[in-house]
Amino acid sequence: MQSKGNATLTWGDGQSIDLPIYGATIGPDVIDIRNLGKTGMFTYDPGFLATASCQSRITFIDGDVGLLYYRGYPIEQLAEHCDFLEVCYLLLNGELPTPTQRAEFQTNVTHHTMVHDQMLSFFKGFRRDAHPMAVMVGVVGALSAFYHDSLDITDPAHRAISANRLIAKVPTIAAMCYRYNTGLPFMYPRNDMSYAENFLYMMFATPCETYVSNPVLVRAFDRILTLHADHEQNASTSTVRLAGSSGANPFACIAAGIAALWGPAHGGANEAVLKMLAEIGDVSNVPKFIARAKDKNDSFRLMGFGHRVYKNMDPRAEVMRRTCHEVLTELGLHDDPLFKLAIELERIALEDPYFIEKKLYPNVDFYSGIVLRALGIPTSMFTAVFAMGRTVGWISQWTEMISDPEYKIGRPRQSYQGAVKRDVVPMAKRG
Ligand code: SDX
Repeated sequence: MQSKGNATLTWGDGQSIDLPIYGATIGPDVIDIRNLGKTGMFTYDPGFLATASCQSRITFIDGDVGLLYYRGYPIEQLAEHCDFLEVCYLLLNGELPTPTQRAEFQTNVTHHTMVHDQMLSFFKGFRRDAHPMAVMVGVVGALSAFYHDSLDITDPAHRAISANRLIAKVPTIAAMCYRYNTGLPFMYPRNDMSYAENFLYMMFATPCETYVSNPVLVRAFDRILTLHADHEQNASTSTVRLAGSSGANPFACIAAGIAALWGPAHGGANEAVLKMLAEIGDVSNVPKFIARAKDKNDSFRLMGFGHRVYKNMDPRAEVMRRTCHEVLTELGLHDDPLFKLAIELERIALEDPYFIEKKLYPNVDFYSGIVLRALGIPTSMFTAVFAMGRTVGWISQWTEMISDPEYKIGRPRQSYQGAVKRDVVPMAKRG
């Protein structure tokens, strides 16, 4: 990192410490506080509002302007000109693939899409109505029980094969969650289909008839995966990095990321948006729900709005809105009441002083649920689809960390506010 002088912290009776400042390729400078511990003090930053946990070369976000770059390429251009496997190659390797590299990568991923047949029996242990994310956490974590040949995280070849296996198998497992939930037979992956087409096939095909895919819907779904692929140090990615920092194997780390993504404040928001729109029901109810979202005594939040980093429009939300319109038009659903309600909710919210002052804009989750629902994907599967797209980001960030000779186990400290030392009173003398 480029040195940019020091920050001097002064406190108490004239004590001070110089803390180095480092610049970034683009974005904020950082103050290196690693030596602060010598002062006997820690920094305090719950939720990591102003804390950079690592150096990274993968994704850049400018929340004030609303920019998102994967390896320097704007998300809008990647969504327009690339397919998801190209974006996977880019995130993993740092450069867009040549046609030969793209073909080799697709062959590698395609030929790892099946799961060990014994994994099918894991599903039988779950209730049919188990939430797909509960099953995904369990089954993805169980992958580490099958791949003893690639768990040496210090070996680049093991890291590469694990990355391929995860990118290839997470869609198969996600589709199996849906099929198990519905009582339909599992559909084995097809090597003659693209990544996105194969997922829709495993979700909706039936052994009883030939499956015909709709290229407009396949392209839209592929783009949705690109929009979800990575997003710098969000909660689930930070979880993957922290789990990985202990030396845990990549399958366990990705399972930890899936668990963190599930929360409604994070990747579970797309499912929550659909439930919220259904609860609002009609445009005439929008003002009432906007009022609830502004009421400090009401825990209701406008799901799909707001973001820790974006204080402007999430660039993914705009691409998602266009994709939503494209899919609904293709399906003859341009009058879809939920979409019209969402458009009106966005318009009213963005004109409201509360949302303007707090810089609350639609995020990636606001429209994703509507388009996934139009594709026939049930609400309970929305976050599983998010996990599918984010797996490449998680594994790219994990690989970047493990390959960094400077990395060490993540171990934050605390400000202790509990009881001072006291002696145990034996039970006989208590009470
Ligand atoms: C994702 O980090 C990532 O990059 C995540 C993600 C990714 O790709 O990995 O982008 C994916 O998780 C998108 C976010 C999906 N979550 C939601 O849509 C849930 C609804 N949004 C919020 O819960 C909230 O906006 C967060 C969790 C997204 C961000 O929370 P912060 O940064 O901790 O902000 P905050 O909760 O402190 O909110 C700041 C203020 C608060 O008011 P004050 O206490 O300052 O008076 O804005 C208010 C909040 O009450 N606010 C909202 C609101 N979001 C924030 N008020 C009403 N509705 C909302 N949605």
